[in-house]
Amino acid sequence: MDAKIVLLPGDGIGPEIVAQGKRVLEAIATNFGHTFAMAEHPIGGNAIDDFGDPLPQPTIDACKDSDAILLGAVGGPKWDDPTAKTRPEVGLLKIRQELGLFANLRPINTFDELVDASPLRREIVAGTDILFFRELTGGIYFGDSGRRPHESGEEAYNEMVYSTGEVERIVRLAAAAAKERRGKLTSVDKANVLEVSRLWRQVAGRVVKEEFPEIEYEVVLVDAMAMHLISRPKDFDVVVTGNMFGDILTDAASMLPGSLGLLPSASIGSDGPGLYEPIHGSAPDIAGQNVANPLATFLAAAMLLRHSLNLNEEAEAIESAVSATLQSGHRTKDIAAGGTSISTTVMGDLVVQQLG
Ligand code: IPM
Ligand code: MN
Repeated sequence: MDAKIVLLPGDGIGPEIVAQGKRVLEAIATNFGHTFAMAEHPIGGNAIDDFGDPLPQPTIDACKDSDAILLGAVGGPKWDDPTAKTRPEVGLLKIRQELGLFANLRPINTFDELVDASPLRREIVAGTDILFFRELTGGIYFGDSGRRPHESGEEAYNEMVYSTGEVERIVRLAAAAAKERRGKLTSVDKANVLEVSRLWRQVAGRVVKEEFPEIEYEVVLVDAMAMHLISRPKDFDVVVTGNMFGDILTDAASMLPGSLGLLPSASIGSDGPGLYEPIHGSAPDIAGQNVANPLATFLAAAMLLRHSLNLNEEAEAIESAVSATLQSGHRTKDIAAGGTSISTTVMGDLVVQQLG
């Protein structure tokens, strides 16, 4: 296969982990006889510094012309001034919108070797295997917003909007995934308060009833979900929710496995390239030190191969190589629990070696 992959290293530790991700993809290409053309493009804070724009047009064009995109992370304290004209995060929101990436898949599974690093007890978290579907191009993130005068000074507002079609398409994807997994779907909303959630609940219920009658379906309010995720994470299979609830719940869920450095995510649309990234941020405090954990990026590369290039065997090869490397006891600092740790590049060497 010939594929065009765009690399968006971004800020902070992004360039370090994407460089290792690139090596892993190169190893896959060699081992399986594929040709991956990989080109790097700027996004985020560094793009603001160099081009005055967190998402320069050539980056958008290259992404649209690609088969898949691997992203590191964007943002950092350097660009955090609340009065700044633009922010690194704008680049990420804009690329999601430009490419129509309405579904954000965030798998939360535990690696048995690392369960004891979880802040929760082993008996609560071991065996957790949840796949979140977070709606990514609608809701309060993309509604009308602004400021207006107010008697106390000014007021600010953000509108939360979802249409029938937006709910249908994300619920359909989530339900189809549930059918292929353990057959259970949980839809999360705030229908006791928000009109938007009442539409969401109505539409989600109808899609499941008409198109996926065989799956087990439940609705849970977002505040209760925050609680259940921590107290009984093993009860969930596929979870579908809106943009902001999904943002918050997946950060909470990311603590279950005890290792943020191992969680990938995929953002996909109905066609065109998908965007794959580790769930963690740009970690500016450790940037440039060659200590960041590249494993989430490797697992994101595996999702890229599976979802955008349909290369299942290759995806599994990366996942097995990551597991095997962990099983033989190698740890980057974040998962070493104070013990011996290896660098970003050595972790890259080991996984590439493991790939054979
Ligand atoms: C995420 C991030 C982004 C979001 C930010 C960086 C815009 O938190 O991908 O979860 O809120 O979607
Ligand atoms: Mn987030």
